[in-house]
Amino acid sequence: MKEFSIFFIWFLNLLLLESSCAADSSVVNPCCSYPCQNGVCERFGPESYRCDCTNSGYYGDSCEIQELWIRFRLSTKPRRPILHYIMTHFQWFWDVVNSCFLRNAIMYLILTIRDEIIPSPPIYNTKYGYVNMESLHNISSTRLLPPIPEDCPLPMGTKGKPQLPDPGVLTERFFRRKTFRPDPQGSNLMFAFMAQHYTNQFFKTDHSVQGVFTKALGHGVDAGNIYGDNLVRQHHLRLHEDGKLKYQTVNGDVYPPTVAEVPVHMLYPERVLPEDRLAIGHEMFGLLPGLSMYATVWLREHNRVCDILKAEHPTWDDEQLFQTSRLIIIGEIINIIIEEYMQHLTGYLVNLKFDPTLLFKTRFAYSNRIALEFAHLSHWHPMMPDSFLIDGDDIPYSQFMSNTSLLMHYGVEKLVEAFSHQPAGQIGGGHNSHAEALKASEMVIRESRAMRMRPLNEYRKRFKLKPYTSFYELTGDVEMARGLEELYGDIDAVEFYPGLLLENTLPTSLFGESMLEMGASFSLIGLMGNPICSSQYWKPSTFGGETGFNIVKTSTLKKLVCLNTKWCPYVDFHVPRNEDETNPGKPSTEL
Ligand SMILES: *[C@@H]1O[C@H](CO)[C@@H](O)[C@H](O)[C@H]1NC(C)=O
Ligand SMILES: *[C@@H]1O[C@H](CO)[C@@H](O)[C@H](O)[C@H]1NC(C)=O
Repeated sequence: MKEFSIFFIWFLNLLLLESSCAADSSVVNPCCSYPCQNGVCERFGPESYRCDCTNSGYYGDSCEIQELWIRFRLSTKPRRPILHYIMTHFQWFWDVVNSCFLRNAIMYLILTIRDEIIPSPPIYNTKYGYVNMESLHNISSTRLLPPIPEDCPLPMGTKGKPQLPDPGVLTERFFRRKTFRPDPQGSNLMFAFMAQHYTNQFFKTDHSVQGVFTKALGHGVDAGNIYGDNLVRQHHLRLHEDGKLKYQTVNGDVYPPTVAEVPVHMLYPERVLPEDRLAIGHEMFGLLPGLSMYATVWLREHNRVCDILKAEHPTWDDEQLFQTSRLIIIGEIINIIIEEYMQHLTGYLVNLKFDPTLLFKTRFAYSNRIALEFAHLSHWHPMMPDSFLIDGDDIPYSQFMSNTSLLMHYGVEKLVEAFSHQPAGQIGGGHNSHAEALKASEMVIRESRAMRMRPLNEYRKRFKLKPYTSFYELTGDVEMARGLEELYGDIDAVEFYPGLLLENTLPTSLFGESMLEMGASFSLIGLMGNPICSSQYWKPSTFGGETGFNIVKTSTLKKLVCLNTKWCPYVDFHVPRNEDETNPGKPSTEL
């Protein structure tokens, strides 16, 4: 009997040992090494896989060989760095392009090349690394590349170290600012706050649900940051008269109302009383005066547009005035973002153009889904300065954050003047994040691991960029390259967000090639995919007639500010280029 039980235990052990061996060491999911260059990796038995190259433009066992027509097209196209150089140099050439039909042709090319990269309908989400209906219908989460398979031997697949570097160590060692490094492209805080104000209408992380990252239903420009992301909030914020939004008047100027009057949830530190809390579409926009400043400007603009519409349509009720004004505001946002913000961001010398009719003859999907990758790459914390210089005062973070009286103390004019003069920090290149921002970067890294995001090099391939072959090629800096190599072990294991921030910056640019290519693709396709850009919407009647349509088509950042202020400050996304631009209150003839 005893002998039998020993035998039995021995046999049981053998069984357990066998099965644990089978699960752990011998068989590795072949898709973990991302073997399908441009296709889909499909696993068959435990150790075999096949690459599905259908419709990818590639063939071969790893979808690595370009079809002839692509090879031909690429051979006629200059390489990316050269293309970027051309787009940002030769002013005389672009002057000619900008003044003739070629501008439209170039804009068309820019849009259609980007459109090939972003899939519509979307394919993956965090739960599913394969095509399915669930991730198509679950509109709150999508991603460009599927997650790293769960059963891979190493955190990033098959390369790198068994343990990823501690996020705190990464941010301390590579992100923390030594001395403030201004953006060589000349971006200012007006640009930095616009970036935050604009993108936060579609990046709204929902931390209550695992694997889901956005609460914003619009998945694009819907001005939910101005009107609230749900109907209840919107109705609280509306005056219900002439289409307008509620406001308060302080020293003769219009500002958002307070939470004491408009009971919507706003995130403020507890010490701030309801009478001091501003009620704004986005619950976070009270945290930074730069954001409440933009909120104030858009509120004034909305109410200004309502007056114009009411004068032309005296029969319209509150609802129609509100809805039509909102469409005009959405159009203004898209126009300003493409023609000024993207123009500044890309550094291109061709004048970017917001003209939906360019795409009317192309197959283009008027729908958009905000991707996890887009949300992550848009964490541009290094832009924030060491302190804020306003009207001769040097204001530290402790007095700037959540300070509602600051907005009314200086007024929109002086804030715009100040933010347009103060340089923003360079985003790329490392060592430029203010201590206040390190925690937020750490969170992005932690989240990307929870979401099992693939390495930077896999994303480079997805965007048709050459994967980096060494740490030095990535950073262009010996010291950082050595540090990263020590922590990651393999260039193919470098994570998405740290890689983007530490990538070698393009000459005199805000950041590196990957950030520019990926960010611009997501942005442009998202903007042009807005329903108002479709042929059924893009017509005068949508915007209350030619007057409203023209407000959209001729909107500028300067008009947005100066049609809603008592005097016209220096306003731009670029710090002043020469002395006479800096004169405040200069009479302006352009408006
Ligand atoms: C979307 O997916 C997430 C994660 O799988 C899930 O928690 C959530 O309930 C889904 N939402 C809907 C509307 O199905
Ligand atoms: C808010 O800003 C005003 C004006 O700069 C300043 O006087 C005040 O001390 C600040 N409040 C806090 C709580 O820091």
